[in-house]
Amino acid sequence: MTAIPAHSQSARPEKGDLSPPKHVAIIMDGNGRWAKARGLSRTEGHKEGVQAARRCVEAARDLGLTHLTLYSFSTENWRRPAGEIRDLMGLLREFIVGDLPRLKKENCRVRIIGDRENLSLDLRALVNKAEKETRDNTAFLLQIAFNYGGRDEIRRAAKSLVEDVKSGSLQPKDIDEKTIAGYLDTDGVPDPDIVIRTSGEKRVSNFLLWQAAYAEYIFLDVLWPDFSKKEFAEAIEEYYNRERRYGGVGTS
Ligand code: IPE
Ligand code: IPE
Ligand code: MG
Repeated sequence: MTAIPAHSQSARPEKGDLSPPKHVAIIMDGNGRWAKARGLSRTEGHKEGVQAARRCVEAARDLGLTHLTLYSFSTENWRRPAGEIRDLMGLLREFIVGDLPRLKKENCRVRIIGDRENLSLDLRALVNKAEKETRDNTAFLLQIAFNYGGRDEIRRAAKSLVEDVKSGSLQPKDIDEKTIAGYLDTDGVPDPDIVIRTSGEKRVSNFLLWQAAYAEYIFLDVLWPDFSKKEFAEAIEEYYNRERRYGGVGTS
C-alpha cells in the first residue's frame, strides 16, 4: 500500500502531538436494537446500517483517512437465524453491485477480509471481481470484514505458514512479527490507529485481534444506523486527546 499518498490533515485539531490517524476500523453494532426501537424487522435495521456504512466511507475520506475497515459479518454471526444470515449476505451483494462503480471512479481499492470458503459461489465471484477491478486504486482502501474472526484469521495464517515451513520456503528461525503479519488477511495494510465500536457494547468480539494490539479503542453509545460524520469526527478528536505510549513512559 505504499502507493497511497500522505493524507490531508483536515481532521486534526490544534492540540495534541499525535500524527493524524490513517486507519480506522469500526465494529458496526446496533442495527437490531435500532430496528426494534422502531418496531421494524432486524433486516430493516441492517438495510439502514448499509446506508450508514456508505455515509461512513464518504466521511472517512473527508476526515483525511486513507484506510477504513468495517466489520460486517463475524465468524460467530452464523449463530443467527437463517433468514437474517441470508439477508446479510444479500446486503453485501447489493453493496458491491451498487457501489463498485462509484468506488472505482473515486480511485478506492476494495478488499474483503475473512474466510471466503463458506460464502456462496456467486458472492465469492463478486468479491473477487471487486478486488480485481480496484486492485490498482490508490486513493483509499476500504476493507470489509465479512465472515471474519480474528482467531480464525490467525488459524488460517498458521496453516499456510506451517505449509511453507514444510515445503522449505520458510525457515522457522526467520519468523518474526512481520512474517506473521504477512500471512494475515490484512497483509500490507497499516495497523488501525483507532477501533470504534458503536451501540454501547464494550467488547472486541473477535475483531482484528493481532492488528489492533496498540489501537486506541473508542466506544460510542450511538446505534450504528445513526452513526454520522459528526460522531466520526468526535471520535477522531477523542483520539487526539489520548497519549499513545506503546509501552514506554510517555511525554508528560
Ligand atoms: C450489527 O448489528 C450488525 C451485525 C452484527 C451483522 P446487530 O445485528 O448486532 O445489532 P444488535 O446488536 O442486535 O442491536
Ligand atoms: C460484532 O457484533 C460483529 C459485527 C459487527 C459484524 P455482534 O453483535 O455480532 O457481537 P456480539 O455478539 O454482541 O459480541
Ligand atoms: Mg450486535
